[in-house]
Amino acid sequence: MKIKLEGPRIILRPPVLSDTDIINAHVQVPDICRYTFISRLSTIESTREYIRNTRKWWRSGRNQHFAIVWKNPQCVIGMIGLSAIDHKNRNAELGYWLAKKYWGQGLTPEAIRLILDYSFKDLKLRRIYAHVMHPNKPSIRVMEKIGFQREGYLRKAVFQNGRWLDEILFAILKEDYLSHR
Ligand SMILES: CC(C)(COP(=O)(O)OP(=O)(O)OC[C@H]1O[C@@H](n2cnc3c(N)ncnc32)[C@H](O)[C@@H]1OP(=O)(O)O)[C@@H](O)C(=O)NCCC(=O)NCCS
Repeated sequence: MKIKLEGPRIILRPPVLSDTDIINAHVQVPDICRYTFISRLSTIESTREYIRNTRKWWRSGRNQHFAIVWKNPQCVIGMIGLSAIDHKNRNAELGYWLAKKYWGQGLTPEAIRLILDYSFKDLKLRRIYAHVMHPNKPSIRVMEKIGFQREGYLRKAVFQNGRWLDEILFAILKEDYLSHR
């Protein structure tokens, strides 16, 4: 797992066990967890277990999760990844989160573009989709800025923090992405 995707300000690489403390510290912030499932990483042990699992998933080829590493100074500032990679139908699900102090600088779009380049060129995928819980405005905005299209509205699709939330299904095709650049 030597893979490394490099952008102007960030590097994406598989997480390692020594990232446990920083990842766990980032996800303690409620704003990060509100519209994601990462509150599962609330303890050091569960975070370590997650990182161990990412290594198994990389070997299986089904999920590829990357740490987002700020280049200067080098530190882990979030995670992004592909899940449910379906090589037969050439699609995968995208997920991402960023530590709050780094929001608003276009770093997640930079990370998503690296993932899309990699997905379409190296993995030969054709379609990347994401489920965004309503009303996760920053994430909806990110999807729109990259050129993902709204494909569906899933009513009461997730039970999150004691209430039912709707989800918006976004997707981007290889050809959409290449024409949107
Ligand atoms: C969604 C998320 C990854 C966006 O990352 P980002 O790197 O800040 O993205 P951008 O810099 O492109 O900002 C996207 C939008 O967020 C909003 N935003 C920016 N800074 C913000 C802040 N401090 N507080 C609230 N919203 C903010 C703006 O609307 C911005 O749109 P604009 O560029 O048109 O102004 C980040 O907000 C996050 O980690 N949220 C929690 C986890 C999550 O919800 N993940 C997505 C699950 S589908």
